[in-house]
This record gives sequence, C-alpha cells and structure tokens, in this order.
Amino acid sequence: MRDGYLVGFETVLMTDHETHSYDVLVIGAGGAGLRASIEASAQGASVGLVCKSLLGKAHTVMAEGGVAAALANVDERDSWKVHFADTMRGGQYVNDWRMAELHAREAPDRVHELEAWGAVFDRTKDGRILQRNFGGHKYPRLAHVGDRTGLEMIRTLQDHGIHQGIEVHMECTITRLLLDSGRVSGAFGYEREHGRFRVFKAKAVVIATGGFGRAFSITSNSWEYTGDGAYLALEAGADLMDMEYVQFHPTGMVWPPSVRGILVTEGVRGEGGVLRNSEGRRFMFDDIPEPYRATTADNEEEGWRYTQGDREARRPPELLTRDHVARCIRREVREGRGSPHGGVFLDIAWIKDRVPGGAEHIKRKLPSMYHQFKQLAGLDITEEPMEVGPTTHYAMGGIRVDADTQSSTVPGLYAAGEAAAGLHGANRLGGNSLSDLLVFGKRAGEYAARFAADQVETSVDQAQVEAAVTEALEPFARHQADGAGREGPYQIQFDLQETMQDLVGIVREESQLEESIERIRALQERAAVVGASGNREYNPGWHTALDLRGLLAVSEAVARSALLRRESRGAQFREDYPDKDPELGKTRLFVRRAADGGLEIERAPVPEVPDNLQQVIEENG
Ligand code: FUM
Repeated sequence: MRDGYLVGFETVLMTDHETHSYDVLVIGAGGAGLRASIEASAQGASVGLVCKSLLGKAHTVMAEGGVAAALANVDERDSWKVHFADTMRGGQYVNDWRMAELHAREAPDRVHELEAWGAVFDRTKDGRILQRNFGGHKYPRLAHVGDRTGLEMIRTLQDHGIHQGIEVHMECTITRLLLDSGRVSGAFGYEREHGRFRVFKAKAVVIATGGFGRAFSITSNSWEYTGDGAYLALEAGADLMDMEYVQFHPTGMVWPPSVRGILVTEGVRGEGGVLRNSEGRRFMFDDIPEPYRATTADNEEEGWRYTQGDREARRPPELLTRDHVARCIRREVREGRGSPHGGVFLDIAWIKDRVPGGAEHIKRKLPSMYHQFKQLAGLDITEEPMEVGPTTHYAMGGIRVDADTQSSTVPGLYAAGEAAAGLHGANRLGGNSLSDLLVFGKRAGEYAARFAADQVETSVDQAQVEAAVTEALEPFARHQADGAGREGPYQIQFDLQETMQDLVGIVREESQLEESIERIRALQERAAVVGASGNREYNPGWHTALDLRGLLAVSEAVARSALLRRESRGAQFREDYPDKDPELGKTRLFVRRAADGGLEIERAPVPEVPDNLQQVIEENG
C-alpha cells in the first residue's frame, strides 16, 4: 500500500507526503499567527498558515477582558510613556526594554487598524473606543468588547486574512523544522485527521504557537498548548529565554471539578469585582506592596481609591499585578480562609445597587462570564459570588527574538506572540498579550517576508524528511514490537502535570525544584519508549505521544531555570529566596540544546535601559 495511513510504520514510503511551497510559513493561527500572515501577505509573500486545531480556536480568545493600548480615551493622562513604564514595572524591569518601547508606541495604531478592519469595540458616550481598568495599568487602558475581546480580534483577523490569498492548513501538527545549511527551509508535520504527512518548503518560518499551559494540571489553556513552538525552535538550534516566568492568572474557576482552571476574566475585577475570603474580608488590603499605597484600609467604599506615588488612580487592590494577587489567594487558601472548593470568593454582584441598570449592567459588561457560570456551575453572578483560584495561563518565556525583527537565533526563523519571549519580563500585565500579538505579529510577518524576498530557492533535505517520518512513527513501531506491554502516553502526561503543578507552581523552593527535575528526567525516559496503538487515522494517543517531547523539554527548561534563579521576581517566587536580588535581576537565562543532547543554560546580562527611557520610567513609574 502506497499511502500508509491505514496501517503502521512499515508501509510508509518516502513519497507518502504532500509538499507545499511558500515564501513564508506561519505555524499557529491564533492572533499572532494571523497578524503575521496578513502582514507577510501584504508584503507580497506567498503565505501558508498551519494550525494544530481549527482556524480561530486559539488561546487568544482567553484574553477576554481587553487589549491594552494607550488611546487615552477614558483618562487623557495616558500615553505610550505611561504604558511603557507600567509594562516595565509589571515585568520587574527584566523586560526587553526595546520590545516594551515598540509595544507601547505601536499598540494604539494596531488597535485602530483592527477597528478599521471591522472590530466592534465597546464605545464611550461620545463614540470613542471604551477602555477599562486592569491590573498594573495606571489608567483605564483596555479597549474591549464586553468580555469577548480576544474572540472579536480573532474574528476580525480571520475575516481580513481570508481575502489575502493565505493558504490555511487546519488540523495539521508540525513535528520538526527543516534546515538547509543552518537556516530554516521548511517544516514537517502530520494531518491529525488522516495521519498523512505534509512537507512545507519555506524561505522563512514564523512560529506563533502560543505557550505550554498543558504542562500543568490546572490551566486556562486548551489541549493544543503543549510547548510545540518552543520545542521546534529548540531542536532547530534556537535559544529559549526567561523560561522560569510562568503566569498563574489569579482567577480561574474552581468548581465543579470538570471546569477547574477555565478563565474568569480580570475584566470582572476591572468592572468592580472584589475578592473576599471565607471571613468575608477583602484580603487584598492586607498586603499592598511598595510602591503602591492604600489611602484607606479595608473600606469597601473608599477602598476604591488608591494611590501610587503622588498620583491618584481609582483602582482597587484586587487590580494589583497578577503574580501578587495569585500569591495572596494561595495564602488565604493555605491558611484556611478559602472557599468550600479551595478558592476564594469573587463578588461582582455587590455593584448591582450602585450602577444604573443593576443586574443588566453586569450581564452587558460580562456576558460570557454570566453564561459561563450559569451553564457550567449553575450560579448567577449577578446574585452570588463566584469561587475562583489561580490557573496556569501564560508563558512569559519562550523563543529568544530580536526586538525589532522578531528573528530568532536561527536564520529565517521568527517568533511572535506568547511563543516569543522578552516583552513581559517577569510578569505580564493583563491585556498586554493582545497588543503584543498585534504589534509583534505584524513585525514578524513583515521581517519574515523581507528575509524570504532576499533568499534564492531553498531546498528540502530528503534525509531530514525521512528522519522526521521515522521519528513520528516510532510510537507505533514500539507498540507493534511489544504488543500491549508498552506504556501509552496519557499517564506520562498526567504525571508531568501533577509534578509541575505541585513542585514548579506559584511558590517554589529548592528541594522541590530538584525533585521536579528528577521526576521530569524519569518521565523523559518513559516517554522515550512510549507506544501508540491503532492506526494513523485520527489517533489522539499517537498525537499525545508526540506532544510529550515538547511538554517534557519545556518543563525541564522551566524547572531548571527556576532552580537557577535564586530570587523572587514577578511570577518566579522562591520561598527560600523571598526577596529580589539586584545582581540576579541584571541577568536572564538562555536555554539551548547542548551537544550531548541535554539542555544547557547560559546566564546573560539583561540589556541596560538607555537614559532617555530610564527617565520615562522615573517620571511615569
Ligand atoms: O483576564 C483576562 O481577560 C485575560 C487577559 C489576558 O491574559 O491578557
């Protein structure tokens, strides 16, 4: 049989794949991938867009509460400079300053462009784009569409992109990047439905595959987010960076168990939702760090008023940065003041008597949250508080890129959005993910297209394709050799998730991190001999067996980086080193594949912020 997808590995011939050729191949079709594709196409490049899932089904939709851009529609004091300073402070000053500058300067144009392409944002009374408060942003800065902002952005980008001749390959998982004399020349993958192989020849490749929330057991990420982009880049010789910084969003659902981890947008707190413990107390007042200062303690009415330095802003302590809020919630639960199902209470119903429209106002502002709790938990958020707790949400770390071009350390390989590192430093501010993917998706697409235009034809090395085929089929080969005695992938993935959740979570400590690394190594040994039964037509066991490689590699990178960073900074909190270390804060960690096949970690200096931008931070921080 020539087309070997009905049976196992031995029937596969090297001709058993389709080949597609593009100037630019974009891997990942969330916001960053779509924006990169649109830009590369606008530059005249032929573009292929590959996604593991269906077009539009992306973690972008989990950025519900808004896109951060200093439009200054609600508070005219806002500007790119304040946004830049907020982003740097939120990221604990280990951000790539140039990315933070480009992001803050360009986000307003990207949002207006999206509006021109048809995104329907909520409006102010005088018809401008409405903006709401979010954690760590000094002024109301999040342009939003109720609590469905990411979804509206995806819809708009899809509608716009579909008319540009971009070829979309849905339900196709890339397992290897192909190289030609050290530069990227394409990618190899399989169709999830039929198990057939595809080869993509490309002069430049953009990785926009998002993060790796699925390495943890409690996460807002859906099944696709297994660290594929970081793994592909790593295996192609690129550097990863900042892997220790994993964001735990403070509010995910905790009950019922089947929905644990699903996101409860920060927009709830942005609209006035408050956090209480089992004693009914707003515990966020207990721990307001410098440089923030509460004007009044524990007073629900006046507690809204909140100052930072000598500047007053109307922000509650629930809108401190995510790393801090998540740790406070964890503390309440650990100290016995949690809700019945191991979270805390998030109450938006209390604003009902204070806003025109009452319950209807809440439903209008937070329609998805209303339906989510009604349908999944049988709870009316306009009447009762929600139970919420931290959920793994976002990777600040990822592929190391050049700030302006988004090129990785491998020629022809680019990355954007969550897959790329640098902008957010040690902690991302909510809403900066959507502006990140617009600003840097565009840049990645533009520079990838320019790179492609400068290349003569690339060639695909058949030996690499054959090796990729063999590698992809190994789980079947092992199963066929041993029959049912071979371990399948699910228990390994489950054990990894438990390990990461328990030992590499919100609060970390040396002996736990060491134990996590030992356990990950043992899991790698099990994964190296994992088997997959059945055939290649839609076979989730096979898919998971292949996903394990990326999941385990990024998990090892996270745990080892977290062990090396003996300080607490942003999302990296070390119980044994609870303070910031000014010297370590000047360094970042690069992770790469070593010659012996393991991971090597290099400590490198964080580039110094130039004087003019240091002044911007001092004036606006
Ligand atoms: O809470 C949220 O709506 C998430 C936003 C984000 O992660 O940027």
